[in-house]
Amino acid sequence: MPKGFPLEQCHAVITGASSGLGAEFARQLAPGAEVLVLVARRADALEAVKMELSGTRTKVLCCVSDLATEAGRSDLIAFLGAHEVRPNLLINNAGLGDYGSFASSSAEKTRTQIELNITALTMLTHAVLPLLQTPGGIVNVSSLASTLPMPELAVYAASKAYVTSFSEALAIELAPKGITVSCVCPGPTPTNFSKTAKRADGGDTNRDGQGLLRIPPSQVVGEALGALRAGRACVFPGVGVAIAGRVFRLMPRGLLRWVLRRRASKV
Ligand SMILES: NC(=O)c1ccc[n+]([C@@H]2O[C@H](COP(=O)([O-])OP(=O)(O)OC[C@H]3O[C@@H](n4cnc5c(N)ncnc54)[C@H](OP(=O)(O)O)[C@@H]3O)[C@@H](O)[C@H]2O)c1
Repeated sequence: MPKGFPLEQCHAVITGASSGLGAEFARQLAPGAEVLVLVARRADALEAVKMELSGTRTKVLCCVSDLATEAGRSDLIAFLGAHEVRPNLLINNAGLGDYGSFASSSAEKTRTQIELNITALTMLTHAVLPLLQTPGGIVNVSSLASTLPMPELAVYAASKAYVTSFSEALAIELAPKGITVSCVCPGPTPTNFSKTAKRADGGDTNRDGQGLLRIPPSQVVGEALGALRAGRACVFPGVGVAIAGRVFRLMPRGLLRWVLRRRASKV
């Protein structure tokens, strides 16, 4: 059983590395990493992150790819082969939300959420596993939302429940092979997430109580990497989020639905 993944001299693939938590994973790994492969759709934003890291001795490669498509996922695997990258760390971070009711959601955005949050995370893990050097590590970015059925964010919360469950199972399956899997469940974190999750009509989510849970991306990523290093299967970064995660997971489902119904009726 691995006792955790040593981060030094890692060869890491980071999805969604053009902003927010993904860019922060790159910043925190860069001082000790050998190779970082940054993946996202926006080439200019990826290059900006690469520029930021130019003071380190890490080799940084940018792979422009739409991971919500099968072609984009295949391109990433081909990119790793073409550049002879032998990863020992995969950070499945790319993800997206959608604020508003399910009935009024666009079918296209709903499909993209499922493709990115669930299919890409699963199939990339499947494709990278045969390439993963050991000792190896996988970080899957889930959410505090994975512990709740969330009205007005229903598909997102359900997709993250999948990520947490999948990750905890993989952590057990892969431990004997020398691969540490850690799932990180952040609460509300200031990134581009809300901007992307908002709909064209400007509808927003209910932010009551979020101030108590909000912590900066640097803390979220620091705790995620600490969990990977320590071999912890699941981490809820920040004291408030850790308590909320524990409470939501222990609450009877009927009571949880009652609380969520009351909250929804206030909007
Ligand atoms: N911020 C929060 O409050 C919060 C809370 C809990 C969990 N999370 C999770 O944290 C992860 C990172 O999100 P974030 O908060 O850092 O938001 P963000 O700043 O919007 O970052 C999302 C990243 O995903 C990339 N991405 C989006 N669609 C993609 C696609 N089709 N193919 C490839 N890359 C794609 C984006 O890059 P491009 O646009 O360049 O493609 C960007 O780099 C997500 O999984 C999110 O669910 C966030």
